Amino acid sequence: MFASQFNLFNLVNSFLVDPVFRTLSDIASNEGVRAWVIGGYVRDLFMHNPSKDIDIVVEGSGIGFAQAVARYTNACNLQVFKNFGTAMLSYKDWKIEFVGARKESYRLSSRKPIVENGTIEDDQKRRDFTINAMSLSLNKADFGQLIDPFGGIRDLDLKIIRTPLDPDITYSDDPLRMMRAIRFASQLNFKIEEKSLKAITINSERIKIVSQERITDELNKIIMAAKPSVGFKLLNETGLLKIIFPEMVELQGAEYKEGRGHKDNFLHTLIVLDNIALKTENLWLRWAAILHDIGKPATKKWVDGIGWTFHGHDFVGSKMIPSIFRRMKLPKGDHLKYVQKLVALHLRPIALVEDVVSDSAVRRLLFEAGNDIDDLMTLCSADMSSKIPEKIQRYRENFDLVRTKLIEIEEKDRLRNWQPPITGDIIMTTFNIPPCKEVGIIKTAIREAILEGNIPNEFEPAYQLMLQTGKELGLKQVSN
Ligand code: CTP
Repeated sequence: MFASQFNLFNLVNSFLVDPVFRTLSDIASNEGVRAWVIGGYVRDLFMHNPSKDIDIVVEGSGIGFAQAVARYTNACNLQVFKNFGTAMLSYKDWKIEFVGARKESYRLSSRKPIVENGTIEDDQKRRDFTINAMSLSLNKADFGQLIDPFGGIRDLDLKIIRTPLDPDITYSDDPLRMMRAIRFASQLNFKIEEKSLKAITINSERIKIVSQERITDELNKIIMAAKPSVGFKLLNETGLLKIIFPEMVELQGAEYKEGRGHKDNFLHTLIVLDNIALKTENLWLRWAAILHDIGKPATKKWVDGIGWTFHGHDFVGSKMIPSIFRRMKLPKGDHLKYVQKLVALHLRPIALVEDVVSDSAVRRLLFEAGNDIDDLMTLCSADMSSKIPEKIQRYRENFDLVRTKLIEIEEKDRLRNWQPPITGDIIMTTFNIPPCKEVGIIKTAIREAILEGNIPNEFEPAYQLMLQTGKELGLKQVSN
């Protein structure tokens, strides 16, 4: 339900309603400046999804107008970015960005344009997409009027991503827009115009002049879309994926030998990613889905009598993640460790489904996954893909069994965030020994006994086992 089915008069009135726009209009009039609301705010307004971020373009100095707005509204949080000719301030719950209308031309080797002052028309045609190039006037004479020179409203209606100029120029001017096109197509569920898609393919190499942070920012937005596979397929078709994420392209294809093939791990990964996107808004859990089979190409092997194997791909995959995160400028620390852990453990619940579910195997899984056990189960559940419905059905039933077992054992043994009932300090005091290998041996013996179910996860039985193991090691108890 876009603008063409919409009463434009009502829309303009609703736009007029918020006092912030009258305030900006009054200031512009007092200052003798011509100003418009432009870009994402206008797009989102026509999509009935109004945001609190406003982009203002003025003929003249964006910074000068921002300073005037700050003065009139007593805003004390004005930020000025002299290099970019932009400024930003918060006013009530609005975030307002200001820029001067530009006539831009770009250098071949850089995203930094050579900027000249321009008119609103000049500015609109240098913007990325028709749906982002619409503006609404803040000027007294035509307050609220829509200026849509490239058919942005039509394209919202047709659900099309189209560039105002020849796409070759728009993408070559600023190659980040290739990622943005795919991001908007994924987020809004729009199609990229054929001509545009071709231009992205032709210009794909130019993505290399864009900073990794910006690329990753767009990639993360694609990953957070309701159906992220849409964006990944477009990235792949246009050749961008092999530049920004070659490991993922490696997953593609199925090799056949003696009439036996393996699944296309790229397509499989996208199914898992779409599955998990239905269950979680956690970006890092979605990253774990993207990377869960990333070790498969490196471990692929044909074994006579068995077929294709990917032995150890969980381990190899988890080891590949730090370098991928580093290159992509994704955060180090907890997020990285979390994704690594999930990838390393992603086969474990499935293995439990296939085996007879023993208590000790469930305990070990709880111990290793800790608080991330629920996310691991979500990942595994998303990973169950088979063309045979009965197989899926059987898997799901067994998987439910594993879930029930996990809950039962967790209630009984509290292993999720396991702290050993006997600490190293207790061992050293009891036997009056310094830190040494015997302390480790005793601790391991206690942990193994608990995980195997030989003793309960409680102080007293663990204490007794400590005494017994110490004795076997020739240690003498000196305190209790
Ligand atoms: N823009 C552009 N080329 C870019 C980035 C932005 O032409 N590479 C223009 C578009 O008109 C865009 C506006 O600047 O609408 C504001 O950009 P930005 O705030 O990054 O995006 P939004 O369109 O507001 O969308 P979102 O907030 O979802 O990122």
